[in-house]
Amino acid sequence: MAEAKSTELMEKLVSLCKRRGFIYPSSEIYGGINGFWDYGPLGAELKRNVKDLWWRHIVHRRDDVAGLEATIIMSPRIWEASGHVDTFSDPMIDCKTCKGRFRADQIDEIPCPQKPSKCVQDCHGEKTEPRAFNLMFTTHVGPVRDDSSVAYLRPETAQAIFAQFKNVLETSRQKVPFGIAQIGKAFRNEVTPRNYTFRSREFEQMELEFFIKPDEVIEAIHGSIATPGEGHPGEPQPNWGWQIWHKYWVEERIRFYESIGLPRTTLEEYWQTPEELAHYARATVDILFQFPFGTQELEGIAARSDFDLSQHERFSGKPMKVFDDELRAAWKQLDESKQKDLRQRYHDARLGYLTRTGVESEKAAQLAKEDADGLAKGQYVPHVIEPSAGVDRLILALLTSAYSEVTETDAKGKSETRVILRFHPRTAPVKVGVMPLLKNKPGLVAKAREVRDLLLPHLTVFYDDGGSIGRRYARQDEAGTPFCVTIDFDTIGENGPELEGTVTLRERDTSEQTRVKIDELLPLLIEKSR
Ligand code: GAP
Repeated sequence: MAEAKSTELMEKLVSLCKRRGFIYPSSEIYGGINGFWDYGPLGAELKRNVKDLWWRHIVHRRDDVAGLEATIIMSPRIWEASGHVDTFSDPMIDCKTCKGRFRADQIDEIPCPQKPSKCVQDCHGEKTEPRAFNLMFTTHVGPVRDDSSVAYLRPETAQAIFAQFKNVLETSRQKVPFGIAQIGKAFRNEVTPRNYTFRSREFEQMELEFFIKPDEVIEAIHGSIATPGEGHPGEPQPNWGWQIWHKYWVEERIRFYESIGLPRTTLEEYWQTPEELAHYARATVDILFQFPFGTQELEGIAARSDFDLSQHERFSGKPMKVFDDELRAAWKQLDESKQKDLRQRYHDARLGYLTRTGVESEKAAQLAKEDADGLAKGQYVPHVIEPSAGVDRLILALLTSAYSEVTETDAKGKSETRVILRFHPRTAPVKVGVMPLLKNKPGLVAKAREVRDLLLPHLTVFYDDGGSIGRRYARQDEAGTPFCVTIDFDTIGENGPELEGTVTLRERDTSEQTRVKIDELLPLLIEKSR
């Protein structure tokens, strides 16, 4: 029953998105292309708002994060260093009967192409053994198409940040702890794209790599490491180790989602179990959202240790270590046993990383010793906390959360159900609808255009003069527009001077209407849209 309801909601959302110009299937006139979606006029605005809000929250409102905009195609060596060439794959199986191709780990959930209503296992077809299918899209750079020209479309934006870490550090005047943020396209040749835009083959990510000092360095400088408590840990402090920084970013990200209209009750934190963690991660929290098809990942926040920078240091031969004067000075003040203890712990962590990544034991021992010796010189490889969110999943979450239906009965007893998208004004694609009461009264139309032109440089405005005013309000409700302004005969002084120069301001969520002076309209709407 619950499943039928969620399927129904999903169908309604997909159809609304198409009808109102939020999301269209890519290449639809040619039958579409599986796993690719286009954003129409309203969707494009919604997406811009979401990305701008994230950028403002993560980059502009802080002084410890810098931005980056890197290329989609990068040196293939980057993907060797990151592990994507060897390990970024899903287990794929083929059905010998229905010729369907599936992810082996999702076989129970996927409909059979021959009998879409049934589970693939009903097909009873013999399956091939699972084999690894690399999810990266390949292309060739330059005119020669051979092995030497293979390149990849990036499967995540994160690696460009690691590859440019030193350049950003040197040009932004930042010091660890600090972050580098990037928004951009990512591509994954998903075996079975599904759930609308949730799992697409081309999508956008908003990623932050926040670089921090290793715990041994914090301990050397500050004597001890602050331990995380319940809830948000507050303003960052110099004695924070990786655990409290990780907690901080989980809480910050939840605050962000709440601030753009996703209620806390629709979000869940899922702490990955040690068996689920990627080999480089010390902890990962997935922020889940209650999508119509189930509670699933919206964003992952991973404590990735010093894995990424260390890999790029080894593969590129370029140093990724930073020099920290504070550490060098503090190290000299430590007594010998403390130095020995911290040195040993750092050494063991480095040796662990080198051994896990297959460095031959003698070489690993030598490198780990050099790394541990580096502490006394104020030198270390930064660790990283990575909040990584998908733009498209967030758009889908916002649409799901905003969707509501109201049933209204008119004076003749006829009832009608209509949709209202209750977006937070911050994310709403259109902030204000401007409408003359009647389109055939030049005085009303001229004034309405004047009001539109007053608002246009500051807010996204939709001018609408077609149909009854009730219909026009309903159209804006369905697009999620939080405010409508109507210019009527009072506005132009035809009913006396009392209300001349005022308009009706209607609020989407309450249908409440108030009279507002045109002079006060712009600051009021800007305030309400913040
Ligand atoms: N750099 C880490 C990283 O890429 P991920 O969990 O693979 O981690 C991060 O991806 C986020 O990107 C996910 O939480 C999700 O929001 C989004 N994402 C990943 N694959 C996606 C896909 N096929 N379609 C849409 N969004 C996707």
